[in-house]
This record gives sequence, structure tokens and C-alpha cells, in this order.
Amino acid sequence: MLVTLASVLKKAQAHGYAVGAFNVNNLETAQAIIQAACEVSAPVIMQTSEGAIEYAGMDYLSAIIRIAAKSSIPVVLHLDHGKNLDIIRHALRSGYTSVMYDGSHLSFEDNVHRTRQVVQWARQYGSSVEAELGRIPGKEDLVTVKRRELLYTDPESAREFVQKTGCAALAVSIGTAHGPVKSRTKVCLDYALLKRIRAVVAVPLVLHGASSVRSAIIRTIEQYGGAVPHAQGVSDQAIKRAVLLGICKVNTDTDLRLAATSAIRKALALHPEEIDMRGYIGVARDVMKHEVMRKIRLLGSADKA
Ligand code: G3H
Ligand code: 13P
Ligand code: ZN
Repeated sequence: MLVTLASVLKKAQAHGYAVGAFNVNNLETAQAIIQAACEVSAPVIMQTSEGAIEYAGMDYLSAIIRIAAKSSIPVVLHLDHGKNLDIIRHALRSGYTSVMYDGSHLSFEDNVHRTRQVVQWARQYGSSVEAELGRIPGKEDLVTVKRRELLYTDPESAREFVQKTGCAALAVSIGTAHGPVKSRTKVCLDYALLKRIRAVVAVPLVLHGASSVRSAIIRTIEQYGGAVPHAQGVSDQAIKRAVLLGICKVNTDTDLRLAATSAIRKALALHPEEIDMRGYIGVARDVMKHEVMRKIRLLGSADKA
């Protein structure tokens, strides 16, 4: 069933687990996510970026997610990294049960002002709003945030921001990055900072850029002719610790892209005669499903539907 972000995250916060948020770009990704969540009986957040909307169309993507949400598990239909206010309004009118307004590129005052505006719109539709404070580097939707633009979230500003905007969840910058290139060395999350934010912010916290970028998958991509610039991802231990310290929503996109790419490269290399997309996209769907199940179990949200 379709539910709001606020409702699933409130439960997650009360019981100390996190809900997985996965990016939907096409039919097969949506099927992989919903099949995985149903199989492990977990609430799930199915999110579309502005880039995905540009690629596939909001009406197509939201219709696919609505069909997925006919299952008995709680499903949030969420807009990821909404920056364009027209797209946000369109999403709310189309029945998104949650939208992210990402004003992290703006000054504190402008971010507060616009986020508050989006919160007011969302209330009219019974929807909830995730906001962001601080800057997370990497490829984020249609823009790329350079590494030198990284800005860790300041706890006191976060407290003031949440109080002034009324957002339902807050994305924090504590050392992750979007995309396959996260850090040249081991990704180190700033747990002390997360604790300080948690101590003064009551709403659920969100971890973006949480993909593991597993070396086995990178190796398969390389073995079959691919060349993906990559570096260390976020380790399973780091994710677990972040969840223990109060992260309630964990965003994953890159791991699904890598899994699908490795499966498609391998399938085409092993079956050069293949011309039926259902063959190689079908195997991509299977590996994405396993990746989603792995992540859900890691977050502790299996059997929490
Ligand atoms: O955080 C951004 C997501 O990974 C979506 O990226 O705009 O390429 O769909 P995208
Ligand atoms: P990754 O690039 O680490 O998968 O992060 C995805 C994300 O944060 C989507 O909002
Ligand atoms: Zn993100």
C-alpha cells in the first residue's frame, strides 16, 4: 500500500532500523525493488530523481510505482533531490506521498525559505518532505557537486533548520558522496558529528550516497570490457553503525546501476547472439533484486512491513 515517508520513518526511528530508498529508472528496476521488498517483507521507498523523470516521464514512473504499491507492504512514492519547484508541485499533484526538496546549494536562509514553502504545499496533499542541509559531493541528479564543495552538516544549523521548516526528515552530509567515486581511500563517516546532530534534531535522518560499490561487481564489469571510474564505497559496518546512531533512511542508486551493468555485460559477452532485451534486462532485474534484498537485510528492515 502507498504510505507517507513520515509514517514509515517514524516506525523505523522508534524501533532502531532504517528503510531502504532505491532509485527507479525503468520498469525492471521497479520490479526488482518491489519483488525484493515483498520477499523479505520490508517497507520500501521507491524514488524517482529529476533525471529519471526526464528520461522516462513522471507519469510512467509513478504509474509503475503505484502498481508496485498494490502489494501488501508499505511503499513510499518519493521524489529524490527535487530542485525544480514545478516538478515538485507536479509530483504532489500526481500523488507522490513524499518529496525531497534539495536546497543544499542555496544559502541557509534561502534553503529555509524554499523548504518551508514546499512543506506548506505538501501538507495540502497529505504528503511529507525530506530536506537537505550541508553538501554531499558527487553526481547528484542533473548536477555534479565538486569534492571541494563538500560541506558537512552543522548540528546547530540543522536544529534551527528543522525547527524553521517543519520538514519530516533531514538528509545530512557526514562523509558520503554520490556515485561510484566516493573517496580515494576508505570512506570514513563522521560518527561523532552524526551523534551531535542526532542529539539536537528530532526528525529522522537520511544517508545519501550510501552505495557499497562492491569490488566483485566492479571486477565483473571490467572482466567483460567495462571501465567504470570507481573508488571505495560505504562498508556494511559503516552503514550498520550509522543506523545504530540514528540514520532511518538509506539511499541506494549506484549499487543497482553497477549490478545491472555487470549482468548485462556478462550476458551479452556470453551470448553474443542475444537480441532479445528480455534476456539481458531480465538477468539485470534478478541481480538488482538480490542487491536490494542484501541492503534491506543490512538496514534491519526485513520483516518490518
Ligand atoms: O542522487 C542522485 C541519484 O543517484 C540519481 O541520479 O539523476 O542520474 O538519476 P540521476
Ligand atoms: P549512491 O550514488 O551512493 O547510490 O547514492 C544514491 C542517492 O543518494 C540517491 O539520492
Ligand atoms: Zn542522494
